[in-house]
Amino acid sequence: MAVAKASAFLLPPKPAFGNADVDWDIFDSQAYFTHNYGTLRDDDTVIIKIVADYFASTGPGRWPARALDVGSGTNLYPALTMLPFASRVTLTERAHTNREWLNRELLSPQGSWWQFWEEISRGRPAYTQINKPLEVLASRADVRKGNIFSLPSAAYDLGTMFFVAESITTRKDEFRRAVRGFLRSLVPRAPFAAAFMRPHPVIRSGRCASPRARSTRTTSSGHLLTLRTSRTLSV
Ligand SMILES: C[S@@+](CC[C@H](N)C(=O)[O-])C[C@H]1O[C@@H](n2cnc3c(N)ncnc32)[C@H](O)[C@@H]1O
Repeated sequence: MAVAKASAFLLPPKPAFGNADVDWDIFDSQAYFTHNYGTLRDDDTVIIKIVADYFASTGPGRWPARALDVGSGTNLYPALTMLPFASRVTLTERAHTNREWLNRELLSPQGSWWQFWEEISRGRPAYTQINKPLEVLASRADVRKGNIFSLPSAAYDLGTMFFVAESITTRKDEFRRAVRGFLRSLVPRAPFAAAFMRPHPVIRSGRCASPRARSTRTTSSGHLLTLRTSRTLSV
């Protein structure tokens, strides 16, 4: 289990904040990538197994599917888990630093994504038939400025939301609105995977951190996956 370098990132909790109270445009994309996705962590390995098995078994029969990953940050693996089933993958981000990072990354991906792809594709024919996943993703991906609170309704056939609703606000009403916003953006009965950090991340503007990682799955029911994990945020 990978554990965040808590001493470097943990900060005292701040009073409740809303999504608009944080300047997401100073999100430190490369630091977030290096800390969380520079190498494949054990908790992501667990998550990948659940999500890739799920999409492989329930991936939409309707081709071409329109896929959404909301709040992508610097994480390409949710999009990679949807790749065999998607003709377009929309990566929606509020932070312009992350949008710029994603556009650069799609053109010139860092090596660690191959560790993720090996884990995603191993033993799953829908994935192994894609030889150049990062090139395919680059050709199908569309990085967009977007807000989880104002996504279009019923616009996507499958979707992912990883570590977003619980980390972008400490307000319960906003958390619920974010989850609802994601779900409403999908057509009825669309397959989706949503991953949440538990315990809740400790976040404040400038630098954000989640408490110590706990990486085991708690539940997996229907289309909703709830997982225990942590991410270190730097904004
Ligand atoms: C904890 S990060 C998760 C990033 C990525 N999904 C992952 O798996 O690591 C939360 C992300 O949500 C983005 N975000 C913040 N507010 C948002 C909003 N209102 N709509 C969409 N994304 C938002 C942030 O810029 C950040 O990239």
